Amino acid sequence: EKGGFRSFMDKEIHDQPQAITDTLLGRTDLQGRLQLDDLRIDESVLRAVDKIIVIACGTAAYAGHVAKYAIEHWCRIPVEVELAHEFRYRDPIVNEKTLVVAVSQSGETMDTLMAVRHAREQGAKVLSIVNTHGSTIPRESDAVLYTHAGPEVAVASTKAFLSQITAAYLLGLYLAQLRGNKFPDEIREVLSDLREMPAKIQEVIDRADHVRQVAESMADTTSVLFLGRHVGYPVAMEGALKLKELAYIHAEGFAAGELKHGPIALIEEGQPVFVVVPSPRGRDSLHSKVVSNIQEIRARGARTLVIAEDGDDAVVPYADEIFRIPVSSTLLTPLLAVVPLQIFACELATAKGLDVDQPRNLAKSVTVE
Ligand code: M6R
Repeated sequence: EKGGFRSFMDKEIHDQPQAITDTLLGRTDLQGRLQLDDLRIDESVLRAVDKIIVIACGTAAYAGHVAKYAIEHWCRIPVEVELAHEFRYRDPIVNEKTLVVAVSQSGETMDTLMAVRHAREQGAKVLSIVNTHGSTIPRESDAVLYTHAGPEVAVASTKAFLSQITAAYLLGLYLAQLRGNKFPDEIREVLSDLREMPAKIQEVIDRADHVRQVAESMADTTSVLFLGRHVGYPVAMEGALKLKELAYIHAEGFAAGELKHGPIALIEEGQPVFVVVPSPRGRDSLHSKVVSNIQEIRARGARTLVIAEDGDDAVVPYADEIFRIPVSSTLLTPLLAVVPLQIFACELATAKGLDVDQPRNLAKSVTVE
């Protein structure tokens, strides 16, 4: 069943290009307009939405966090992202104009299900982004957008994460289209960029050897930090989660801008730090700010493991290792930048002789609160 791969996780990392292709499949009409027929929710309801709250746990919540940047940009609707188990207990402000988006691979996560019920009781509409057909969360939602990642067996989520981001982006673009977004060309452009992602993800997978070698050399590491900014921030959090759950190594993800507000005190000689670098062609001066961060931590002894776009030479003087990803538009980079981090965690755990498919203390779907 593992199709010749050493583990389900390894297989599922390799399934990612197909998972994205399948999640995009059949969701545009002949004119290239998005058509989410399977949504089963009235367009007028979606047009009236004035706030979106994404609820999810773990990796699915990081996918929601990535989607927040994109949906706010395209739709100009405020998007909050909240861990499902926190949402329910804080008396959230929701009404019939709130769209709650529940993201779940299994569709059975009890924390997320309870939050879905709570949101509906409060009058919100719930749209779920789920991978498993026939599961409970979509049954209890007003609308559903399936990711088509195929069954995910390994406890650590990989292909579900990429397809959740893809599906949430489709939702964001669809809302923008419905609401007469002022940039129809941008929607078309993002859709065509999305269609190029499977090939680019494959390129990152094809470059896995370098990550593997570095991971194998780090089997004795006890702590790894991850930094990112903008959409790279949730990617950093996801990289840290993968390493915790698979390799049992203390790992923490930070927003790069937060460094000087505390975390930089953790940097000492030899501390490995992954840095997800924004595209040099991206907005504002984020790229140069993150390059300065790399410089600062390196000057304090950090071992810098940098994820940067092809051709980004500015990072070279400050990077101990560079993991290259193909050029893509800023909002789509998480689909590429997370892949070396998944491979790193998988390979490091394997080098430690651990079972990457069944990490200790964890279950694939958490059906208790
Ligand atoms: O099935 P779900 O997407 O609702 O699961 C949510 C989390 O439990 C899940 O993403 C978990 O964090 C994974 N083990 C992460 O790899």
